[in-house]
Amino acid sequence: MIQENIIEDTLTRLFGEMEFEAQPSGLYDPLRYMIALGGKRIRPRLCLTVYGLFHNRFEPGVLHAAAALEVFHSFTLIHDDIMDKADIRRGQPTVYRKWDANTAILSGDVMSIDSYRRLARIPAEVLPKVLELFSQTAAQVCEGQQYDMEFEERDGVSMEEYNQMIGLKTAVLIACSARMGALLAKVPEEDSQVFYRFGYNLGMAFQIADDWLDTFGDTVVFGKSVGGDILNGKKTWLLIQAMAQSNPRGQERLCAALAMPSATADEKSAKIAAVKAIYQDLNVGDAARKEIEKYHALALEELSSLSLSGMQKKMLQRYAASLTGRNK
Ligand code: IPE
Ligand code: IPE
Ligand code: MG
Ligand code: MG
Ligand code: MG
Repeated sequence: MIQENIIEDTLTRLFGEMEFEAQPSGLYDPLRYMIALGGKRIRPRLCLTVYGLFHNRFEPGVLHAAAALEVFHSFTLIHDDIMDKADIRRGQPTVYRKWDANTAILSGDVMSIDSYRRLARIPAEVLPKVLELFSQTAAQVCEGQQYDMEFEERDGVSMEEYNQMIGLKTAVLIACSARMGALLAKVPEEDSQVFYRFGYNLGMAFQIADDWLDTFGDTVVFGKSVGGDILNGKKTWLLIQAMAQSNPRGQERLCAALAMPSATADEKSAKIAAVKAIYQDLNVGDAARKEIEKYHALALEELSSLSLSGMQKKMLQRYAASLTGRNK
């Protein structure tokens, strides 16, 4: 087994030493910028954590896979920030704000290609299966992002539709990270599917926590502007739950708050405060925390079908807790 401190050192080295082409710098500087900013690196950490349950050292293949996951994820963030008009990411200006949207589009494109190039370096015997998993996942993330945008324009998104959307945009990549670690470790196919479901449930919890943090988090700790989801008309867990919990009068109040103007900075703050106040009255923040715990428990339940040692289980439990109890 490989312990957390070794995993942390490995991640630091992997991304600290990561190299991209030099020229044209206008294309590659944003890649260096995003990777240097770091983020939480939960996906490569999960891949290494699962692999490390079954091995005592990291082979180059799993490091390539872990790198591919983080580079791919960072690419989705660069494009997501254009789509969500987000100014701050990882505590710093987003790529399209620091440079411009065209740069963010093209740098994102080359970053996506870079992730495939890294993945292609894994051992040939596992490549076909892992490549299929990665490609399927990548397409699903795009599908989820499309639903996410379409929902902005729609009223009456159901919780079922929401769950499907976040399953695609967020949970599948976390699921893929866990299963990739398992496939590289050469665990049986069925067990790799268990790791997938473990990651999927954690991913659901992770996105609901992200929705919660977008309204109730601390901008400095979170590293993103709080209230962005409200201003964008995002159909978050909080909004769907608030609608479901409200009577017609309450729904009217919520719709009125959501229809408030948001052109100036003052209008933006007023609108965010009005919606947040309704969420607070309805206690949807607490309801979200319960839902996060539900998915957390489902993730841990998945593990019961695996024959893991106490130490192996504890390792996964600590990983799961770090994801669902986060404040950034
Ligand atoms: C942000 O992902 C996008 C979501 C799926 C919520 P992270 O919260 O993992 O972002 P970084 O990589 O730590 O910046
Ligand atoms: C992002 O969801 C999911 C992907 C980037 C694929 P969000 O739009 O909620 O992520 P943040 O909050 O900007 O990180
Ligand atoms: Mg988004
Ligand atoms: Mg976003
Ligand atoms: Mg978000």
